[in-house]
Amino acid sequence: MTDTQHPAGTGALTLVEPTVTLRDAFLNMADDYRVNAGGRVDGVFELYPHDFPGYVHQLVGNAYIRDSRGVRVPATTYWLFRPDDGVLLGVSRLRHHLTPALRREGGHIGYSIRPTERRKGHGTRILELTLEKARDFGILEVLVTCDTANIGSARIIQANGGVFENEVISERTGNPVSRYWITLQ
Ligand SMILES: CC(C)(COP(=O)(O)OP(=O)(O)OC[C@H]1O[C@@H](n2cnc3c(N)ncnc32)[C@H](O)[C@@H]1OP(=O)(O)O)[C@@H](O)C(=O)NCCC(=O)NCCS
Repeated sequence: MTDTQHPAGTGALTLVEPTVTLRDAFLNMADDYRVNAGGRVDGVFELYPHDFPGYVHQLVGNAYIRDSRGVRVPATTYWLFRPDDGVLLGVSRLRHHLTPALRREGGHIGYSIRPTERRKGHGTRILELTLEKARDFGILEVLVTCDTANIGSARIIQANGGVFENEVISERTGNPVSRYWITLQ
């Protein structure tokens, strides 16, 4: 899809890696979560890092996450950036490989859109852009999962070519989780 094919206002969006130069934009996004989502960020990022440069440093370079069983996995974090006004719209994270726990329910990619910018197509776009990053890493079979009750996320995955494999019960939450595979060319 070319930029000109995107709905108005979403074409120029881009993923950037965390940088200290976007501190104010990041804190503005964090405020949005605090005020409009009760601080819930679903684990994709820390809301008010005590040490912002340290936080950014930790997210770039040899960054990793721990899966639900504590296993370390290299991961890259991206911020969805709107160059027109310098606003950060959301966050995604690409895990570079699957562990047994991620293969079961976590998947390769997590994402979140700031509360005041939801239902405008940005969720669909952040997954699309993060899939391009996955391709750059040579990940061509991408597992993306969501709580089955998360209708918006399921639509996002399906809009990006997700093929439903099955549903499992989360070891972490006890909720049904839907697993989808996206095949990249
Ligand atoms: C889920 C989330 C990323 C959706 O972001 P978004 O920017 O609203 O998504 P989009 O605007 O691209 O919407 C995609 C589709 O889902 C639908 N949708 C979005 N939120 C919805 C909701 N709460 N209920 C029902 N449908 C919803 C949209 O209408 C759209 O439908 P369409 O394809 O038929 O037009 C966002 O709500 C969020 O960040 N939630 C918290 C974190 C989270 O759940 N992340 C996913 C973890 S798997």
